[in-house]
Amino acid sequence: MHYLRALSLTMEKSTTLQPETGGKPIVMSGIRPTGYLHLGNYFGAVQNYVKMQDEFRCYFMVADWHALTTHPDTKELRNNIHRVLAENIACGLDPEKVALYCQSHIPEIAELYLLLNSLAYVGELEKTPTFKDKVRLNPNNVNAGLLTYPVLMAADILIHRARFVPVGKDQEQHLEIARNYAHRFNTRYEAVFPEPEAFNYHQELIKIPSLDGAGKMSKSENQYATLYLSDDDDLIRKKVMKSKTDAGPTEKDSPMPVEIKNLFQLMQLVCTAETTTHFMQAYNDCTIRYGDFKSALAEGMVKFISPIREQAKSIQSNKIYLEKVMREGAEKSRESAIKTLREVRRVSGMNYFT
Ligand code: TRP
Repeated sequence: MHYLRALSLTMEKSTTLQPETGGKPIVMSGIRPTGYLHLGNYFGAVQNYVKMQDEFRCYFMVADWHALTTHPDTKELRNNIHRVLAENIACGLDPEKVALYCQSHIPEIAELYLLLNSLAYVGELEKTPTFKDKVRLNPNNVNAGLLTYPVLMAADILIHRARFVPVGKDQEQHLEIARNYAHRFNTRYEAVFPEPEAFNYHQELIKIPSLDGAGKMSKSENQYATLYLSDDDDLIRKKVMKSKTDAGPTEKDSPMPVEIKNLFQLMQLVCTAETTTHFMQAYNDCTIRYGDFKSALAEGMVKFISPIREQAKSIQSNKIYLEKVMREGAEKSRESAIKTLREVRRVSGMNYFT
């Protein structure tokens, strides 16, 4: 769903399925506490969250129960949770404006998950491409949590009766499943849940290209081609200087190979328009020196990433603050979750007191 259409919906009366929020549509998204945030996450996801926090009622959750389905080793879990929270706050997410919380602090999610399991068909879940991928990658750990991953994700979203879910393309199928369960529940009992939709500010999802000319920045693939928000200045410079380039243009205005185009795209994100125009002209009249071009890009990246990195570090070491964030986030989130569950119990006949 595009931003403007979402805003026009706020004016409509069709928000009857959502609890009172002062007219702000409800937004929910989950962040897996696995791996470090990279530039692709920043421009693809976190920047969207930050923009949304004023206009929407936002619930942003660290999905620790989901992490257990693929990462059973929990030694690093606490550290990872703290880091994910710190990194997101350092990127501009404001825990005063949004509910920023951990999934496992909201037992109501587990209750809704249990109820949704009876609306979920095993055959459907087995067909989900993400499930099949995970089975293929890890045939020795095909746990039931993997199969019901989309049911838990639906519970995450529906527990707040969220309307919009800022996620990437890879989550589209999960979102469709969540819509199906909302619809099934509403038709079987009574309308309680809006059917949630993907949301993005941009018509096209921004893809941040990797530094090696192949694909996009990613947590799991070529780590040297991905810039993390935790990379120190030297590492950023090294990665950028090692990025792939060709032999250089020999004719004026020649078409750009994809790896050069990618570097220009990255430059546009972190350098001034003058810098980018300067190197674009140099490319077009064949005077570009890739060494200078990359140095300028590296400095732009350092300038962009280092304040976020330092801020994240300082937040991560402030355990008192992080615990306060988690506690207050859980409080806000539970308030909304409890209300939804009350409705769910009422319409599904699970209220035995008069
Ligand atoms: N499955 C999502 C991912 O892998 C994370 C997630 C968990 C999520 N619960 C969610 C996303 C609820 C949106 C809404 O990135």
